[in-house]
Amino acid sequence: MPNTPILAPSILAADFTKLGADIAACEAAGADWIHVDVMDGHFVPNLTLGPFIVDACRRATDLPLDVHLMIEKPENLLEDFAKAGADRLTVHVETCPHLHRTIQQIKDLDCKAGVTLNPGTPISAIEPVLHLVDLVLVMSVNPGFGGQVFIEESVAKIAELRSRLDSVNPHAWLEVDGGISEATLPKVRSAGTDAFVAGSAVFNHPDGITEGVRVLKSALKF
Ligand code: DX5
Ligand code: ZN
Repeated sequence: MPNTPILAPSILAADFTKLGADIAACEAAGADWIHVDVMDGHFVPNLTLGPFIVDACRRATDLPLDVHLMIEKPENLLEDFAKAGADRLTVHVETCPHLHRTIQQIKDLDCKAGVTLNPGTPISAIEPVLHLVDLVLVMSVNPGFGGQVFIEESVAKIAELRSRLDSVNPHAWLEVDGGISEATLPKVRSAGTDAFVAGSAVFNHPDGITEGVRVLKSALKF
């Protein structure tokens, strides 16, 4: 059974000259989690932020910090991100030869453990840990950049994962990330998603962050 739907604005699209204010605007408008995209310039072509910014986010909000690690060897930095205030740490299966151990490490740090997979990675890659994780994230774009076009095949992948999770781990969150907008959200919601990451649709909304959050939260009511 899906959880109460969650909207997680991705600060990748925020204005970092006023990050605290942008996060506060998300929180005031009703955002549920703050999604933090960590990129290392190796696993993905882009280079973004580290524990220092997670610590700044922690001081800007009480909302859960949903930290998405698009980095090689994430096991080396888990403790730093946990100490900085991450609540959820999500690793890519493509970067984790010892995925089972990495999930255990995250739990030992008292964080919620998430696992994610690229659009080109089959569900079978995470099947052995589905019963262990707190969250499964489906990438609906190739990771690395905000503002990309939603990959339609993600809908079928989400539906299949929903069905697998319902049988082995019904309380785990099923999250989607990439190209989520007022137009794409309803189809991933129908397929069984219960946590929705949105960068551009929130921070680049022509009428501002408050309206960006409001529009997506309204779409979640149906
Ligand atoms: C992509 C990131 C996403 C991204 C989403 O690698 O993981 O979280 O910021 O941005 P939008 O919503 O603009 O696709
Ligand atoms: Zn992300």
